[in-house]
Amino acid sequence: MKLLALVGSKRHGNSIFSSKYIAKKIGAELEIVNLANSKIEPCKACYACIFGEECKIDDDVYEILGKIEESDAILVSSPVYWLDATGKVKLFLDRCFMAYPYLEKFKDKKGAVVYFYGFEELRGWASTTYNVLLRCMGIEPLIVAPIHSPLPGEIFEKVEILDKVAEALESGERYVFNGQCPVCLSESFRYTSAFECAICGSKLNEKLEVVERGERLSYEWMLKHYEELKHFKEKYLQKRGELKKLVEEYVGEGN
Ligand SMILES: Cc1cc2nc3c(=O)[nH]c(=O)nc-3n(C[C@H](O)[C@H](O)[C@H](O)COP(=O)(O)O)c2cc1C
Repeated sequence: MKLLALVGSKRHGNSIFSSKYIAKKIGAELEIVNLANSKIEPCKACYACIFGEECKIDDDVYEILGKIEESDAILVSSPVYWLDATGKVKLFLDRCFMAYPYLEKFKDKKGAVVYFYGFEELRGWASTTYNVLLRCMGIEPLIVAPIHSPLPGEIFEKVEILDKVAEALESGERYVFNGQCPVCLSESFRYTSAFECAICGSKLNEKLEVVERGERLSYEWMLKHYEELKHFKEKYLQKRGELKKLVEEYVGEGN
């Protein structure tokens, strides 16, 4: 198995060590792409890639998508920074409209997330961002594994969690940790009259049992969503005159 680890930490620490441990455990050929060291520019929101045109930005995103295409399994192995995913991972995620033409090729790849954090009370929502990173490329994660490991190397005191990630990647079987949405493995919820999963939109009771299943950000949903985005251009062209009048006074400096 060819395993590609998408890492988002400059430190030679838990994200890199975990990728190596997991690859060794399953006997996979490992390639690490450290997004923290990659050239990734912000998305310009031109939507060209949604219409099948090439992205004009000259950076590493196509090369990374090519590496994903060549791999059998994708492991997102990355820490929590200020309750969220690390910056370059989010930059890469923002560019992932570019994954649209690859969706069909990516959908059967195995995916997993392992993330690291220093404080139980500051785990935040990074796992949601890392989960969405796989989903926007059409890959449904088999496991989203949290590891409390403030210091580099402390993951080796919790190898049982890394072993679960390895097992999921090897067997293709899903694993749901306590506190995760049973449908999509999200750890973020919104509460109105029931818990609503922030990723898939499933309605859940207080034991996180599914009351009404949601499909948001599943592979089929992603396909429809990217199609829907195409209509934004038509909508904009129809409304352009009206919007131009509204913004007239505010155009100029700032870009
Ligand atoms: C800038 C920065 C911000 C961090 N923010 C958080 C945080 O919000 N919550 C948390 O639990 N840990 C936080 N940490 C701790 C890291 O998540 C933790 O040390 C992790 O093991 C780092 O992974 P690495 O060894 O792969 O770099 C932060 C660390 C740094 C350097």
